[in-house]
Amino acid sequence: MSDKFKVLVTRKLPPEAMEMIEKECELRVNPADRAMTKGELEKAIQGVEGLLCLLSDTIDEKLLQINPDLKVIANYAVGYDNIALEACTKRGIPVSNTPGVLTETTADLAWALLMATARRVVEADKFTRAGKYEGWGPMLLRGGDVYGKKLGIIGLGRIGKAVARRAVGGFAMDVFYYSNSREEEFAQEYGLKYLGFKELLETSDFVSLHLPLTSETEKLLGEEEFKLMKDTAYLVNTSRGAIIDERALLQAIREGEIAGAGLDVYEDEPKLTPGLVGEENIVLLPHIGSASIETRTKMATRAAKNLLAGLKGEELPHIVNPEALN
Ligand code: DGY
Repeated sequence: MSDKFKVLVTRKLPPEAMEMIEKECELRVNPADRAMTKGELEKAIQGVEGLLCLLSDTIDEKLLQINPDLKVIANYAVGYDNIALEACTKRGIPVSNTPGVLTETTADLAWALLMATARRVVEADKFTRAGKYEGWGPMLLRGGDVYGKKLGIIGLGRIGKAVARRAVGGFAMDVFYYSNSREEEFAQEYGLKYLGFKELLETSDFVSLHLPLTSETEKLLGEEEFKLMKDTAYLVNTSRGAIIDERALLQAIREGEIAGAGLDVYEDEPKLTPGLVGEENIVLLPHIGSASIETRTKMATRAAKNLLAGLKGEELPHIVNPEALN
């Protein structure tokens, strides 16, 4: 019988991480090139000591009950709203994430979305490919300016700060922020101004979301909030979809309460709220904020290190529930 640790990896990861895990573990890995279904996950989790999972895997109380011997959960993401953290802590299961390595990559994508939305890049590409370009036109595909405008950042953590640095250094923007913690040193260094939530929405030409999904942030932006925003404003979301009420967003865009939105994440991923697809002034991406080759490799090796540490009873480099070890 093998004395290696038994682990489940719910989706094939970049090879560097698979090799690290394979060296020390008996590996059970999802053979399909898609997320595991609930039923597959419930079956595959039986008898393993370690779980390396994705943000799209729901790790709830019921799943934990199926395997009382689980020693560690390593999430392949910085966000961990897919995991019932309290239930893990109660069972003494340490949970880890992958902070730091995806900051700049996600900030780059937030900018790609912001630019694409304001300057109608996706719409213009479709237009050109469709053979509709018949010559330069004074009114053709006019969008909104970015340079020198007002950017409101909600959530000034690592990624929010990286977005702010780009805005100040590259686009001479006035940057405002609303966050749980006042980041005074950073704000002073980059000339950011703190605003209350409503005031930020009223003031900004662009609003970019960079906060985790919690019971407090769920549907933080709904009907009332869109009414506060400028009718020329754009919303960008690279954090978690459920922070926005998508139906209210759709309505706000249809009624001209805001100018457009760039979304990388959705309320009920991978499903899209009906109607989103038909709106030209919403840019839709399939949750690719961290999807550069380099970053996805770093995330994977980080998750593998956390997993292996947990299996060996060592300190997890990126534990999110240290209380689990008490
Ligand atoms: C995360 O890590 O939480 C991101 O959403 C994945 O790119």
